[in-house]
Amino acid sequence: MAPLLSRCRAVRARSLALAAPLSEEDQGLQSMPDASPTKWHLAHTTWFFEALLLAREASGYALFNRHWHYLFNSYYEALGPRHPRAQRGLLSRPSLAEVMAWRTHVDEGMQAFLEGADGPKLAAVEPLLTLGLHHEEQHQELLLTDILHAFSCNPLLPAYRAPAAPALRVATQAAAPQWLAHPGGVVEVGHDGTGFAFDNEGPRHPVLLQPFAIADRLVNCGEYAQFVADGGYQRPELWLSDGWAMVQAQGWRHPAYWLAPDDPRLEMHGIGGAAGWQVFGLDGLRPLRPEAPVMPLSFYEAAAYAEWAGARLPTEFEWEAACTLPGFAERDDQAWQWTRSAYAPYPGFRPLPGLAAEYNGKFMVGQMVLRGGSLATPPGHSRPSYRNFFPPAARWQFSGLRLAKEP
Ligand SMILES: [Fe+2]
Repeated sequence: MAPLLSRCRAVRARSLALAAPLSEEDQGLQSMPDASPTKWHLAHTTWFFEALLLAREASGYALFNRHWHYLFNSYYEALGPRHPRAQRGLLSRPSLAEVMAWRTHVDEGMQAFLEGADGPKLAAVEPLLTLGLHHEEQHQELLLTDILHAFSCNPLLPAYRAPAAPALRVATQAAAPQWLAHPGGVVEVGHDGTGFAFDNEGPRHPVLLQPFAIADRLVNCGEYAQFVADGGYQRPELWLSDGWAMVQAQGWRHPAYWLAPDDPRLEMHGIGGAAGWQVFGLDGLRPLRPEAPVMPLSFYEAAAYAEWAGARLPTEFEWEAACTLPGFAERDDQAWQWTRSAYAPYPGFRPLPGLAAEYNGKFMVGQMVLRGGSLATPPGHSRPSYRNFFPPAARWQFSGLRLAKEP
């Protein structure tokens, strides 16, 4: 029980630490239908433990406010109707203080439950509790991606944190990528069952790969800037049809959060055009660092860049197999990596039993897989078999790319 409880406390505390730099006004912002307010993330992760675990398993546990389950259920049809996703920003009530009180109530309920449960009971609930902790870690990353998008909509371009914050890691990348050769053949992919994994990472199974080569690192900002300068966003032959339609409909000219030297917002920050491209991130507006992984990119932008570079995106299975190659840095802690693989069930996939069945399986259509991890991924959260997924037009996550090609 003790390790579970201490892990529970650590994960729950980390969410609060991530929200701590934000004002109450910040935490209520919803900048678009796909992004949620910080307050909603804090409440929804709490709802997960209360609705899926405590309300069902902890005798004597009192719901904090049963009406809030309607507000903070995300997508669980089995748990009843819910507030529309696109209107989460309208929830000025409950207040942030009330949400924080709810978190405390649930944390105390979890402690009492774990301390009072016998061995068989603990063994029975541990999988769901562990899922709840990994779920909260996923929302920790979303909290950051969503507040960054909200801040990007503010002409003041506020910084979430000071540039010198310890969580900011400095990229150290070679000037030119090295191509790593993989011989292909039958390889095993998927989670091997050691430790936690989401249901979408299994079953582990063999796949047949053709020989391929893959870059030892991610595409960086300096390389992507050459694509922009070469008219990458004006050349339809480089783009998938749906991607080119997005370029035209949305007026994409460069990655989201990149500010061109003639961007009128720069004047407000005392930055002249001679300073070159600027990039907005969690540490505010900073000069483009050529060696840093390029992000945030949609799948369409990643695919267009790969086409321009005479390469392609790796499949998710090539990516996973490459993790065993010497010199392959599976992540560099700055950006997730789009793959050319549609998010689909592995052979023999079955969703988790019970309420958690809705966690992953029902989203396996219309999305692309990303691998690796990002600067916002909680430490230890990702692994080589981890499958992140987003629609191909999504360009507010910490997402970039790595190139692959035929040998
Ligand atoms: Fe969730």
